[in-house]
Amino acid sequence: MPVQRTFFGRPIPAVPPRRMALLLASVAIFAVITLVFTLPNSIPVGPSLGRFTDHKYSLPKMPKKLPGATSILNPFRPIAHPPPIQKNSTNGESKWHAGWNWRSPFSSSITLDENRSLLPPLRVRPPIYTYYDHTLEKDETLKEAHNAILLTWRRAWWAQGFKPVILSPAETMNNQLYVELQRLDLDSQLNTELMRWLAWENMGTGVLCNYLTLPMGPHEDPLLSYLRRGKYPGKLTRFEKLGSGIFVGEKAEITAAVKTALASPDLKSAKDFIGAVPSDTFLIDPHHDSLAFYDTQVVTDSYSKVAKDIVNDPAKGLQTLNQLIIAHLHSTWQNIFSAGIAVLKPQPEHMSALVQPARKLADFLAQCPVSPLPASCPPNRPKCKPCVSSVPLKIASPPVYRNTSALYTIGTVPHPYTMAILSSFRDNINVRWIRRDSERDPWLTILTKELLGTGVSGAPRVIKFKEAVASEYGTFHSLWVSAEKNLPHDLDWHFGFTIPRNATDTGKSETPVPGPERRPQEKPDPKDGPVPNPEEMQKEKELLKRARDFGQARSEAEEKLRGAIEAWNLADTEAWKFARAFLARSRVERIKWEDEEKKYAGGAGAERGRSEGWGRWFDD
Ligand SMILES: *[C@@H]1O[C@H](CO)[C@@H](O)[C@H](O)[C@H]1NC(C)=O
Ligand SMILES: *[C@@H]1O[C@H](CO)[C@@H](O)[C@H](O)[C@H]1NC(C)=O
Ligand SMILES: *[C@@H]1O[C@H](CO)[C@@H](O)[C@H](O)[C@H]1NC(C)=O
Ligand SMILES: *[C@@H]1O[C@H](CO)[C@@H](O)[C@H](O)[C@H]1NC(C)=O
Repeated sequence: MPVQRTFFGRPIPAVPPRRMALLLASVAIFAVITLVFTLPNSIPVGPSLGRFTDHKYSLPKMPKKLPGATSILNPFRPIAHPPPIQKNSTNGESKWHAGWNWRSPFSSSITLDENRSLLPPLRVRPPIYTYYDHTLEKDETLKEAHNAILLTWRRAWWAQGFKPVILSPAETMNNQLYVELQRLDLDSQLNTELMRWLAWENMGTGVLCNYLTLPMGPHEDPLLSYLRRGKYPGKLTRFEKLGSGIFVGEKAEITAAVKTALASPDLKSAKDFIGAVPSDTFLIDPHHDSLAFYDTQVVTDSYSKVAKDIVNDPAKGLQTLNQLIIAHLHSTWQNIFSAGIAVLKPQPEHMSALVQPARKLADFLAQCPVSPLPASCPPNRPKCKPCVSSVPLKIASPPVYRNTSALYTIGTVPHPYTMAILSSFRDNINVRWIRRDSERDPWLTILTKELLGTGVSGAPRVIKFKEAVASEYGTFHSLWVSAEKNLPHDLDWHFGFTIPRNATDTGKSETPVPGPERRPQEKPDPKDGPVPNPEEMQKEKELLKRARDFGQARSEAEEKLRGAIEAWNLADTEAWKFARAFLARSRVERIKWEDEEKKYAGGAGAERGRSEGWGRWFDD
């Protein structure tokens, strides 16, 4: 007799075997369905998982569209809304999203948009103020000269990570204390000095700087790093021997100092602001190796030729002083990067045309600046090494990226298609060739070989690359440009000085200086790879042109090839998009600032009639 099974005391009805099978099948189906529908929610949604499941390094099936965020490779990924689009985060084809998690290898796992790169948050630029009364000057040529110096000042501080702002009497008049100043009826120099302080007080915390005070030192300099933090607790600070060249402080301290000065009984006998306030108002900092102040005293003592020029003809003299300052900024840069410039060329063969613009830029940077006093040093760096044209800065074309602090790196980032047709040296590549014959991520692999060795996958390489491009350190030690685009027009702002564009053939150079034509002819370094003969060079140029056109045209066949090659070279594509977006964003940042600033101070310190860019030098 079969055993009667019970469940909580009740008998369980016997189930015939056929119905039992049916029941088991239903349970199994139910279990599978439950698993499929609940599992996605139990997988943590986040970059840690998403970023790797998104881009498996397996043979990609050539998809019609790129596997973007809502990847077909990952069935468990819940569909999420992309993060909200940030303001001004597009320029041409480049799009970006700024976030603290920018070090993730593949942006699209976070931005959920294959075309939007994840960039580091924009560094906040602390304001640095200068005061210029544009209403005083009537003489046009003198105005022009002041404008040139203000432009130099803005550029130099911008390149060091600040937001240079030119204040004018408009800011002073906005200050409630201005009425008091008017009542005092001071002599003109002291009056100007107080106008300057009132303008600063009106703006608040920051740095007040004479426009003849310029940063000339490495980006990592402790004082510049401190100033960049934008918080200046404690007393107002000024610097030993720099007089009124530069002051640093918080709003409350500035207000207190201005009020003390205005109330001081011996204000009329004071020569300047420092004399008008008690001496304990300021903390005097003796360390300021990275600040150069070209005040009258310094110019008379050290650059007497320029001082004489200024006395004879102020406008012309100031232009000469401006040229001297630019030359000093440039030679300081050359001293900082004493190991030279590396124009990266990850594959030595057939890449000469690709790196040519970068190479030319390096030539310009290595050139000795046009200077009224070629052998002179900046006031803050008496032991500098002036540029000597017989010993130019070394330019090399290594295949790998080296993280050496005295080496400046100019990288040209090609799209994988560009890389493919140049390295294969033919323009008829197809999907079959890509999958059968081409290596994955050739560019990034070679570039990071020294840093990471071989046998590392694409993801860590991309992360290293992104650090080299966009970390604070990287930004000031390297420049990364797209191979398919012209060099950006505003490189002077990136470097902080006017880059000499072959001064001798513009016919503008007035002072005879040793130009590149007098340089010793360099023999090509065998380490820089083979030198192409003229026919090869011609073909390289044609291929490069084809690659540029390919980026524009969007026929269906090309779109497919593009998708295929991007999917095959995920890391190279990511690097290319990242570098492109980073450059585009820095341009947007600057243009936005330029737009805001040009309405103040009568537009002083703007670039005038000099938008020629680089086209002339690089389009051949
Ligand atoms: C930034 O965005 C504003 C509107 O959001 C637009 O008017 C402005 O032109 C943009 N600036 C740049 C440089 O794209
Ligand atoms: C990304 O850009 C390409 C080319 O501009 C375009 O074809 C594609 O649709 C874009 N993808 C998305 C998700 O916008
Ligand atoms: C390069 O070196 C600096 C300091 O030596 C370091 O902070 C930085 O992270 C390095 N960058 C890369 C890409 O390795
Ligand atoms: C500068 O101009 C001279 C003469 O016009 C030319 O021979 C030389 O190659 C140019 N140098 C550079 C770096 O372009």
